[in-house]
Amino acid sequence: MTHAPNLTPTVLSQDDLKTLVGQAALRYVVAGDIVGVGTGSTVNKFIDALAAMKDQIKGAVSSSVASTERLQALGITVFDCNDVAELSVYIDGADEIDHQGYMIKGGGAALTREKIVAAQSHQFVCIADESKLVQTLGTYPLPVEVIPMAVNRITRQFEAMGATVVLRQKDGVPLVTDNGQYILDVRGLHIADPLGFEAQVNQWPGVVTVGVFAFQKAQVCLLGTASGVKTLTF
Ligand code: 5RP
Repeated sequence: MTHAPNLTPTVLSQDDLKTLVGQAALRYVVAGDIVGVGTGSTVNKFIDALAAMKDQIKGAVSSSVASTERLQALGITVFDCNDVAELSVYIDGADEIDHQGYMIKGGGAALTREKIVAAQSHQFVCIADESKLVQTLGTYPLPVEVIPMAVNRITRQFEAMGATVVLRQKDGVPLVTDNGQYILDVRGLHIADPLGFEAQVNQWPGVVTVGVFAFQKAQVCLLGTASGVKTLTF
């Protein structure tokens, strides 16, 4: 008896797309180098894939305690950022990315360390499923890491822009970042000029890091789509 071929197209879940881009990012890892590693569920797929290459790299610089723990559990050496002058590549996810490579990041509260590691890397490769690609940044609530004593002042400054602001909570109390600070999630912004916006908010006293990555934008985005991984370059 012969069976008719199954012509039903395979529907890839968001998790499948994250796995695809996590694996695709391996081709940007330079043998013999130290790789910059971001934070989040998409990056976790990359870290898992990187385990297969662990004997070909010196190790990693990590952007969070969570990623450090995952890397070390897989036997990948994690270097202190201060001990590494520059990195060939930084691989990280995003909450939103636009068609210029500007991003909103910080959904996982790791934005400050992510920006630091990105700043010392020659190339930022963003890995994301297609839901993250936007025309204009701002639909995703913008994370801003702030010094606790400045929470109300910075809240008022965003409210004056017409935004609404929520202090991020965990288990009923304000979430404390790896750096001992708080996160504000800012809704209702339409960020048409990411470079200007980042430069402006960076000047507000008490802002540690704003989650707009314009000065540290991506040069490449590996975008997971229903028809496979698309490579966008900026
Ligand atoms: C963490 C980040 C992440 O890159 C961003 O939140 C995307 O996460 P995920 O891959 O889980 O969707 O900026 O601070």
